[in-house]
Amino acid sequence: MKKTLVAPSILSANFAHLSEDIKRIQDAGADWLHFDVMDGHFVPNISFGLPVLKDIAHTHSMVNDVHIMISNPREYAQKFVEAGADYLTFHYEACRSDTEVFDIIDLIHHAGGKAGISIKPNTPVDKIFPFLYSLDLVLIMSVEPGFGGQSFIREALGKILRLRSYLDANDIKTLIEVDGGINAITGEECTKMGADVLVAGSYIFNAENIEEAIRSLKL
Ligand code: DX5
Ligand code: ZN
Repeated sequence: MKKTLVAPSILSANFAHLSEDIKRIQDAGADWLHFDVMDGHFVPNISFGLPVLKDIAHTHSMVNDVHIMISNPREYAQKFVEAGADYLTFHYEACRSDTEVFDIIDLIHHAGGKAGISIKPNTPVDKIFPFLYSLDLVLIMSVEPGFGGQSFIREALGKILRLRSYLDANDIKTLIEVDGGINAITGEECTKMGADVLVAGSYIFNAENIEEAIRSLKL
């Protein structure tokens, strides 16, 4: 059986020594590196953006997994792929129409990236079913986006299961990623429901033993 992939979020790293933190998680077995980009408009927090991604993207060998929590993903999609995003995930709620969703997916693919879409806790998972054949990844938020260190919202589990069933029934290979409040317990629950990739910030970066924390998510 394929093991769950682990994507530590650098939002919980210490930016004063970010490159050391990145090296530590890579050495500890992290598969993907998760970038939480926030614009202070789509979410009530500001984190970092293109220049930071550009400088970090080529300094390690993990997959650059970029989650843009911004109000205008169409305008920035190509720029983030050019800056080094392997997977670029934008929010369904930031789009004005289904056409816009398809346009952004196309922009990402034309720039050479893999395309993901994310839904917030209050958005039903069925909303993204029309796009699944074009998507490489779906990111199910299990906290309200904006901040690390929040508690896992359990309704996410039902969404993962529903999406897993739909993907399998239709033989679609899109990956399921879960983000927010992931630890050894909630991580295992997500994996059982069919998640492929787990994002974890505070659980990994606050752990006494980072290697053990990462291993506990790889079931
Ligand atoms: C929230 C971010 C998450 C967050 C996860 O907006 O998308 O990636 O940093 O942090 P934890 O694992 O601490 O909930
Ligand atoms: Zn994220």
